[in-house]
Amino acid sequence: MTSVLSRLANPFAASPVTCVEDLRRLAKRRVPRMFYDYADSGSYSEGTYRANQSDFAKITLRQRVAVDMTNRTLASTMAGQPVAMPVALAPTGLTGMQHGDGEILAARAAAKAGVPFTLSTMSICSIEDVAENTDKPFWFQLYVMRDRDFIDRLIARAKAARCSALVLTLDLQILGQRHKDIKNGLSTPPRMTIPNILDMATKPRWCLSLLNTQRRTFRNIVGHAKGVGDLRSLSSWTAEQFDPTLNWDDVRKIRDRWDGKLILKGILDAEDAVQAAETGADAIIVSNHGGRQLDGAMSSIAALPAIVEAVGDRIEVLMDGGIRSGQDVIKALALGAKGVFIGRAFLYGLGAGGEAGVTQCLDIIRKELDVTMAMCGLRDVRDVTGAILAGKPNFGW
Ligand code: GLV
Repeated sequence: MTSVLSRLANPFAASPVTCVEDLRRLAKRRVPRMFYDYADSGSYSEGTYRANQSDFAKITLRQRVAVDMTNRTLASTMAGQPVAMPVALAPTGLTGMQHGDGEILAARAAAKAGVPFTLSTMSICSIEDVAENTDKPFWFQLYVMRDRDFIDRLIARAKAARCSALVLTLDLQILGQRHKDIKNGLSTPPRMTIPNILDMATKPRWCLSLLNTQRRTFRNIVGHAKGVGDLRSLSSWTAEQFDPTLNWDDVRKIRDRWDGKLILKGILDAEDAVQAAETGADAIIVSNHGGRQLDGAMSSIAALPAIVEAVGDRIEVLMDGGIRSGQDVIKALALGAKGVFIGRAFLYGLGAGGEAGVTQCLDIIRKELDVTMAMCGLRDVRDVTGAILAGKPNFGW
């Protein structure tokens, strides 16, 4: 009994966590399958989802020696904002179902680590919930919906909450099918079927965290969007509400309406990147939505170099997709990204251990980035360029 209680109190009591993969394994044991699978899957064959990670292994770093490695710094900027390291938390749907109040906990961990947290439109905790329970500005991710009044209100709510950047997602006007979500009957809150009850009964930490909060639905939407009194599924909301007519004019209109930093997420093609640069946005995120949308698309890291070349210094280039380590971060920086976003990596931390797990994830990545940078012969992360790579990677795309 004492050992069960001490394990609940200290999420990492059982064995030392040394890498993000350890957090993933713990999260898989601690989060009900419906929600773990939601985070950890890609669309259709999951080919792009897997390539996002495996393509990082095709990049080789140059080992340098006898270079003074004292006084190192990882401080940089992303979208013009100072960051303790060039790593932000990506917007991820249903974060508050990986752990009760997940968005608030992740935002707090990010603030302590000095990196940006991005709240998804499809979050469980609302913009106001996060603003009231944290004391640093966060970023807000927006989807364009048919109900433009709702969009205007969301933008106004993000402004009122003093969100310091708007991240506009462009690659999810229709939803790529994720087989596991259908097979698991994904819903929010989870449907109490016998298999779900049995699954939850083996996840006491998760049950406690969800019993301790009232935040168990899409609180940015329920009670705010017209005619939405209850919202169970992301897929039905997407089918009804996301606007498939979204175009570059809409992006420009949102640019005019938002006077803070604007970041366009979901760019994977050099021609789209050039269009994006012309909208007046501050940055783009090279992304295929974590391999959750167009299955068969290039991995983000493989798409990055051509995009960087196409836009030059007309717009800042950030990226997400497949980052699980500090080594991955430095490889993305070497291929031209100014910063990266982590999604699943922090969700594993959250599912494994709440706020402490997210802090652990950020610590692991920070230390790996720092040590890798030193071994590449650099002391300042802003000096990372393609010169640290042993040749041009061949992604075979
Ligand atoms: C939402 O952003 C999703 O990918 O499920």
